[in-house]
Amino acid sequence: MKDFKVGIVGFGNVGSGVVKYLIENDTVIAKRTGVKPILAKIADIDITTDRGVIVPDGILTTDVSELIDEVDVVVELVGGIRSAKKIIMEAISKGKPVVTANKALLAEYGEEIFSAAEKSEADIYYEASVGGGIPIIKVLREGLVGNQIKKITGILNGTCNYILSKMEEEKKSFAEILEKATELGYAEADPGLDVDGFDTAHKAVILASLAYGEWFGMDPVHIEGIRGISLDDIKFAAELGYKAKLLAVIKNENNNVQIRVHPTLVLSDSQMAKVNDVFNAVHIDGIPVGETMFYGKGAGLEATSSSVISDIIDVALNLKFGSHRRIPGFRTGKQFKKLLKMDDIVSRYYCRIHAIDKKGVLAGISETLSYNNISVSSLLQKEKHDGEIVPIIVITHETKEGKVLKAIRELEALNTVEGKIKYIRIEDY
Ligand code: HSE
Repeated sequence: MKDFKVGIVGFGNVGSGVVKYLIENDTVIAKRTGVKPILAKIADIDITTDRGVIVPDGILTTDVSELIDEVDVVVELVGGIRSAKKIIMEAISKGKPVVTANKALLAEYGEEIFSAAEKSEADIYYEASVGGGIPIIKVLREGLVGNQIKKITGILNGTCNYILSKMEEEKKSFAEILEKATELGYAEADPGLDVDGFDTAHKAVILASLAYGEWFGMDPVHIEGIRGISLDDIKFAAELGYKAKLLAVIKNENNNVQIRVHPTLVLSDSQMAKVNDVFNAVHIDGIPVGETMFYGKGAGLEATSSSVISDIIDVALNLKFGSHRRIPGFRTGKQFKKLLKMDDIVSRYYCRIHAIDKKGVLAGISETLSYNNISVSSLLQKEKHDGEIVPIIVITHETKEGKVLKAIRELEALNTVEGKIKYIRIEDY
């Protein structure tokens, strides 16, 4: 076989990891796959800083177009949107296969990118875009391709999972732990992408599109981040046997699809609850496979490099055996599936009500819930509290969200209830 030339654009943290492990593991890769990728070019605006890896002479360049022309695969690792999109579109227009880890770019511009790739018959591989080192793209695209996917739920953002885990473990506030996560380098350059749920949403769009074979884009995704989760919620949830996680929930019920990202309570003894710190996990329920779960490091140089290298090898094998275009591109086909409105989703709910501690309060709350046909699964009233206000936690049975929100508005209007009622959805496994 002739040399398979790899070009890496973006020689930052992940770029240097890919270089390191492509070189370090080349014998193992060649032995197992029969292909030997050659690092042909690395492009970056800064080609003088020492990245701690030794690269072959003369392969560093600042000229991305020159790299695209000379290599067999373009590995885009610059991140962000504008330049990354330009690089990928140029590679595609020249018929070059692309490997990328750029979930934000794919989620926001996937329609344009995948349709351009289809026209010019260039493959796009993006294993590192979701779940870091967990090969979840391959699982959905290949391993579970014979399944009807009923449901995917996942912890897809390591930073949020780290924050929620540490808030519970160290009994510290959101702000304190976010500062620590930023210091440790887990958060995106703009931590809002993590904590406001957008990073998880980008990943959810990619998983949903793989699961249902059509491109959804960001519009149908309901997104809530974790800034509103207080230490009190975490403590009350723990007392009731739950843990708070930022979950992506993708469901298809009778051809009605829902894609949502929000703080979610899961039972403390479920496997999802045991996914802590920066780890990610994806749970898939399909027919005929049943329930499967995948766990691993969702971010970091090593995990991301593992996925990027696996994509590079796939492209090399495609080239070797003339089997490119095996992977179908996405088509926008919003007509195939109805997207469920949030009011129509069915879930169980945790509601934290601040009530005035006096006779008849509970009766008023239960009357309002019962009038709205909402059945209570458990109830916690805290004995020790400051002043007149007592937190009452209600956990409901399965109910339509619209009904719960109506009941919450009515509860908030009671003169025995103070302020806003906090609600968190519950996902059962
Ligand atoms: N900021 C992301 C996370 C990086 O915390 O999961 C990986 O996509």
